[in-house]
Amino acid sequence: MSNFSDTVQRSDQVSPAVVDSNPIELDSAHEEHSAQEEATHVPPASRRPVAAVTGCTSGLGRAFAVELATRGNDMVLVGRNAAAVAELADELRRNHGAVVEELVADLEQSNDRARVVARLEQGVTALVNNAGYATPGDFWTLDPEAIEAELAVNVTAVLQFTRAALPSMLAAADGMIINVASISGLITGATGAYGAEKAWVIKFSEGLAGQVGPSGVRVQALCPGFMDTPFHQRVGNKPEDFPKPLVISVDDVVKGSLADIEKGWAVSVPGWRIKFVAMLNRFSPRRWVWKFDSP
Ligand SMILES: NC(=O)c1ccc[n+]([C@@H]2O[C@H](COP(=O)([O-])OP(=O)(O)OC[C@H]3O[C@@H](n4cnc5c(N)ncnc54)[C@H](OP(=O)(O)O)[C@@H]3O)[C@@H](O)[C@H]2O)c1
Repeated sequence: MSNFSDTVQRSDQVSPAVVDSNPIELDSAHEEHSAQEEATHVPPASRRPVAAVTGCTSGLGRAFAVELATRGNDMVLVGRNAAAVAELADELRRNHGAVVEELVADLEQSNDRARVVARLEQGVTALVNNAGYATPGDFWTLDPEAIEAELAVNVTAVLQFTRAALPSMLAAADGMIINVASISGLITGATGAYGAEKAWVIKFSEGLAGQVGPSGVRVQALCPGFMDTPFHQRVGNKPEDFPKPLVISVDDVVKGSLADIEKGWAVSVPGWRIKFVAMLNRFSPRRWVWKFDSP
């Protein structure tokens, strides 16, 4: 099995050619590639590995995109805010010489997810399923449509994109998929549908990691603790309310995740304090942990 450095730095990696364009241009480029592939049965080669990151426009996703571009990847940036995607794409082209595809998609929408699936089926060498959010409020008070939308982003997109990306990675016997879960998925507590969705991501990723690991493809569930990102503004948390010892920077989470995947770890929990909380929760009386709240 090659390590992650091989994956991100090799220059002879065979993966589909990338186009530096907006989503409309991408569609026509996709058609051209499909026709070419049908004619020759040989995928066009890119000189560099290609990494796709969802939810690239802020927080952890942005940090992953910058780090992967820094490590020599060309990028497929998936985000729903076109201006923010374009701004990051320009930064990565300018600062890292990356070829960057901008794929604007709202992952709550099945048509938009299908466009991402179509791109991933062409092949990438790395995929970070990072987009995700929690809907504030007690579960029984939430709009049922809002719960469905959250499920689509936190679970359905992860399922569909992993399914789309894996076959070409398995054919190349190389590649990696990082599915961003949360400490919420490891602990029991008052985390509503969000915690259960993240628990699904962990179970799903760990099971796949065992199955595809011998091929050289690595899959990881990443379980961060508290990160000071727009995630918390969206749910109404204030940074001053965070348990300070449990806060970790997005850069440390990215570096921890990438280091762990090099070691072949299928579940990554960056930071010893968060690891300790997860273990404490696991072995504490159930009536105590039911009250636990976490990101
Ligand atoms: N922050 C924490 O403490 C924490 C802890 C554990 C796990 N996590 C997980 O870490 C991941 C990243 O979160 P973050 O903390 O970096 O928060 P963030 O800054 O709010 O980033 C979330 C990203 O997901 C994107 N996104 C949300 N809904 C989307 C949709 N319908 N379609 C497309 N993109 C969508 C957002 O795009 P827009 O900007 O367009 O909304 C944004 O780019 C999430 O999966 C989250 O569950 C966070």
